[in-house]
Amino acid sequence: MGEGKGYGKVILFGEHFVVHNVPSIVSAMAKATTAIVERFEGSSWTLDDRRPATPGYKEDKIGQQRDSIERVLRAAGFDASKTPIKITLGGDLTAASGVGASAASCVAIARALSDEFSLGFSDQRVNEIAYEGEKAYHGTPSGVDNTAATYGGLIWFVRGKPLEQIPIKKPVEVIIGNTGRVANTEAAVAGVRERKQKDPQNYDKLFKEAEELANIAKRALVAYELRAVGKLMDTNHLLLQSIEVSSKELDFLVNLARENGAFGAKMTGGGLGGNMVALTPGKDLQDKVARAIRDAGFDVVLTQIG
Ligand code: MEV
Repeated sequence: MGEGKGYGKVILFGEHFVVHNVPSIVSAMAKATTAIVERFEGSSWTLDDRRPATPGYKEDKIGQQRDSIERVLRAAGFDASKTPIKITLGGDLTAASGVGASAASCVAIARALSDEFSLGFSDQRVNEIAYEGEKAYHGTPSGVDNTAATYGGLIWFVRGKPLEQIPIKKPVEVIIGNTGRVANTEAAVAGVRERKQKDPQNYDKLFKEAEELANIAKRALVAYELRAVGKLMDTNHLLLQSIEVSSKELDFLVNLARENGAFGAKMTGGGLGGNMVALTPGKDLQDKVARAIRDAGFDVVLTQIG
């Protein structure tokens, strides 16, 4: 029996823009998906998905998930028709849109495969394999999610470049609020591409702003200026609204978090549903904002970045 694990992630700055080579800042979450790979009497691979999930998520993603597992196995050079396997997914990361659930599972499966068949995959190899698996979910992934899922930590990520860990004095509390709406990242990414092509002048300006924002945010994080980081997250949310990837529920949760004292809040990940993140330094503020979101009838995860 082989085991593997991949972290969930929260993008603090630059989702969507990162697909077009703008820098992004992503943090792994202290929640992960686990995979077990076992040899199996059968004709190919089979899956037992025991992850906790947003209602409807697994059903909605089943086609992409099957495609993704095929891609992961192919990229790993593994032929399940010759060596049938059973894959069991679990862990404490709720499978939902925006938290890197797909990348976490790709990483976990690649690692479990390596463990069971002594393939000796390095982190770099695991990351490459997971990137191939991500294509089934994102179409043209930037690689930010699989990188966070593989390496963990707080990461400065630019597409096609080696990752850079951002040093931060100590971890900061955040809450992640779930709209409960399952979203399609591939469609969200394709929509941005289409609108960017139709309105290049406006979009070029927004993409420049996103790049400047990521650079300023990196400095603010290193300096541990959390009020400034929060304000920059608010600005990032505005940019994401401008490129039309937010939603009514996301905007509602972002406003609710701010009204309850969050230093800043924004949608996170692909958008059009899925999750938002609020910066809530200290246990008390984290609990307060989490309670407000729960009282409004939404699921919330309390975690830390960095
Ligand atoms: C999804 O978590 C992040 C996106 O930027 C897509 C990607 O980077 O592949 C929307």
